[in-house]
Amino acid sequence: MALPPPALAPALAPALAPAPALVLTRLMLRDFRSYPALTVPFQSRIVVVSGENGAGKTNLLEAISLLAPGRGLRGARTAEFGRRAGGESLPWAAAGRFESLPWSGFDIGTGTPEGGPPERRTFRLDGAPVRSQAELAERVATVWLTPQMDRLFQDGASDRRRFLDRLVWALEPHHAREVAAYENAMAQRNRLLGQERRGDRVDPQWLAALEDAMARHAVAAAARRGLVGRLNETLAGGITGAFPATRLELQCAVAGALGQAPALAVEEGLREGWASGRRRDAVAGGAVEGPHRADLLFTHVPKDLPASLCSTGEQKALLVAVVLAHAGLIAAARGFAPLLLLDEVAAHLDATRREALFAALAALPAQAFLTGTDAGIFRPLAGIAEGFRAEGGELVPDSDLAVPSGASIPI
Ligand SMILES: Nc1ncnc2c1ncn2[C@@H]1O[C@H](COP(=O)(O)OP(=O)(O)OP(=O)(O)O)[C@@H](O)[C@H]1O
Ligand SMILES: [Mg+2]
Repeated sequence: MALPPPALAPALAPALAPAPALVLTRLMLRDFRSYPALTVPFQSRIVVVSGENGAGKTNLLEAISLLAPGRGLRGARTAEFGRRAGGESLPWAAAGRFESLPWSGFDIGTGTPEGGPPERRTFRLDGAPVRSQAELAERVATVWLTPQMDRLFQDGASDRRRFLDRLVWALEPHHAREVAAYENAMAQRNRLLGQERRGDRVDPQWLAALEDAMARHAVAAAARRGLVGRLNETLAGGITGAFPATRLELQCAVAGALGQAPALAVEEGLREGWASGRRRDAVAGGAVEGPHRADLLFTHVPKDLPASLCSTGEQKALLVAVVLAHAGLIAAARGFAPLLLLDEVAAHLDATRREALFAALAALPAQAFLTGTDAGIFRPLAGIAEGFRAEGGELVPDSDLAVPSGASIPI
C-alpha cells in the first residue's frame, strides 16, 4: 500500500527541517522491568515494536524515555524499575548509544548505582558521572504519547495543567521549580488558614510572606501562556491533511493579566487579592484564585468543538498534532529533533489517519518508536521502518518489517 504524500503544515516543517535528528542506535537493558538482559541495535528512523499485552512494549519505550532527564513516560518511582525477582527489586541499568550532530556519537547510561539503594538513580555520559540533568538535556530529549493520555479531555483540570507543565518543562527546565515553589507556599498558607479557622492565632506576617512567595512564583503562568502561544502558531494549519487544525486556550486569569500588565503589577494585584481573600479562602478550604486553577482547553477547529465532545479517534488525532508540534518546538530550541515515543498510537486511528501519521513520521527528521498489539496495521511502513516483536523479555526482528535496504540513518 502506497503512503499518501506527506502534507506537513508549513509551520511545522521549517520548525523541524533544519534540525538534525537525535538517533538511538543501540539500547541495552539489564533487569529493567520485564527485561532480564537486552541488547538491540536500531538501524532505522522508524522502529515498530509489536507484541501481545504484557509483552514489554511500553517498558521498552519507558526505558528509552529514562535516558533523558525526568521520571520517564510513566512518571514512576525509581524503585519500580528494577526487575522483580523473589519479591525483591533487582539493581537495574539502561544504556543508549546515540548519534546526533554536532557530536559524533555518545553513550548515556542510567540505573541504580553500584551497591546503592534501589531508590537512587544515577546518570553517566560517555562513562563519566553526570552532575546535573541540564547536561543531559543538552544532548537528549524525548516526547511521548501514551494510552493514559487519552483520558486527558475527560480528566480534571489538574491533569491538563500537569500535561501542560510537562510540555513547558521540556523547554524551560526551571519551570518545574517555579510550579513546585508556588504550590508549596500555597499549601502552607492553606494549612495556616485552616488553623485560624479552628480558632488558633496565626501571625498575619507569616501569611503575608507566604502570599508574597506565591505571587513571585505565579509568574510560572507566563511560561504556560508563552508555550500555548507558540504551540498555536505551529498548530494553526493542522499537522497533516488528516489531522485537524487544533487550537489551545489557557484559561487562567493570572496568565491573561500577565499578557496585559507588567509582571510586578500582576504580582502586586495577586498579593492584595490573597490578603483580602483570606476569610473566603479559609471557608473554601484553599485559595480560590491563582494559577493553580488554570485549565487548558483544546478545540477541534474545523468542527469548532471542544475536544471533550470529539470522538475517541478525533481526540487521538488532536493529541498527535499537539505532540508533533511540541517536538517541533523542541527541535527549534535545542537544535535537534527529539525521539518520538508513540505507545499504541495507531489504536484508535482509522486507516486514512494511520497512514497520514506514518507519512508525517516518514517526512519528519526525527526518530520515532511505535508500538501496537497488531503488527498488521504497520504493514504500510514496509520499506520505511524496521520492526520487532516483543516476546519473552526479548525483541525478535519482524520479518515483515525488515530493515529497509540501504538504511543508513540520516542525522
Ligand atoms: N519491575 C518489574 N519487574 C518485573 N516485571 C515487571 C515489572 N514492572 C512491570 N513488569 C511486567 O512487565 C510486563 C510488560 O509490561 P508492558 O507494560 O511493557 O506491556 P505491554 O507490551 O506494553 O502491554 P500492553 O499491550 O498491555 O500495553 C507486564 O507483565 C508487567 O507485569
Ligand atoms: Mg503497553
